[in-house]
Amino acid sequence: MAKDIDWGSLDFSYRETDYSYVSMYKDGKWDEGKLTGDHTVTMSECACVLQYSQSCFEGLKAYTTEDGRIVCFRPDLNAQRMADSARRLEMPPFPEDRFVDAVREVVKANIDWVPPYGSGATLYIRPYMFGYNSVIGVKPADEYMFRILVTPVGPYFKGGAKPVVVRIPDFDRAAPHGTGGIKAGLNYAMSLHPIMEAHREGFNENMYLDPATRTKVEETGGANIIFIKDHGKTLVTPKSDSILPSITRRSICWIAENMLGMKVEHRPVLFSEVPEMEEMGLCGTAAVISPVGQINDHGRIINIPSGMDEMGPTTKKLYDTLTGIQMGRIKAPEGWIFEV
Ligand code: PLP
Ligand code: COI
Repeated sequence: MAKDIDWGSLDFSYRETDYSYVSMYKDGKWDEGKLTGDHTVTMSECACVLQYSQSCFEGLKAYTTEDGRIVCFRPDLNAQRMADSARRLEMPPFPEDRFVDAVREVVKANIDWVPPYGSGATLYIRPYMFGYNSVIGVKPADEYMFRILVTPVGPYFKGGAKPVVVRIPDFDRAAPHGTGGIKAGLNYAMSLHPIMEAHREGFNENMYLDPATRTKVEETGGANIIFIKDHGKTLVTPKSDSILPSITRRSICWIAENMLGMKVEHRPVLFSEVPEMEEMGLCGTAAVISPVGQINDHGRIINIPSGMDEMGPTTKKLYDTLTGIQMGRIKAPEGWIFEV
């Protein structure tokens, strides 16, 4: 029985569900893993994650399709990216095939928490792992906990698909040759002060420039950036080692090129080029595609021509195609949809 929740009024916040998944790494190997109804974690006060932030995570969603199936979108790519994150942080990767199986298992166990088709809500899936045992010298842990929590969520930005305003912050989220390209918890710790400052100043998000020269567009705290130009014919998206390789962005680029006949430019994008763009969007699992209407660079305003009232027409086509695939209204490219 589906839970008695007003799905349409959910925002993007945590709510405890029935089960989480947990597996421990000890003596050089991962245990078999299991579901647990215990949503708390107990560990040493000197655990590596508490002292040196040795942690990484992922984010994906389960959707109810139009014909009532429960599906996940490209979880194999989350598994891969989490393994990349783990290696960069000197953690043992959780095996990629087991990652996908564990996602299925935990969604199945929480099936009543998957929001119904058309409700505007989805089940957010958050795999994460961290250094568990105590260390005091700076070194990686020997024991790790891998967990998956799930929680039903609504839109990441209040107002759903309404255009947002982003500002150029005075902070960087990642260093050159640092960890911007992986999903390490520490990147998000770095973004907490800038995001709170942005909110205090009335902006929705920070649009980070490249940390080395501050001349190129990178991404926001929780999403990649896409631009539309040439009367809707071209999609431009920044390329940089310090940007997280978004699965949503990679999927959108594929859709633009192969389904909508657009040209895709994945390349360094100068901030000075932005006034040439017709539409702009933030894309990610949480953000889906959230349109940007305006950029504020220390008081200098760049108005995106698609405006503050609604999504631009090409962004809308991309949004409708992406969500159509995720919700089973449009035939998915081979291997994109995993049934639970
Ligand atoms: N960039 C950052 C910094 C993120 O946190 C996320 C969210 O996962 C994304 C981009 C979007 O990535 P994905 O589309 O894989 O969710
Ligand atoms: C996601 O889109 O899954 C994210 O992780 C972004 C944000 C919630 C951190």
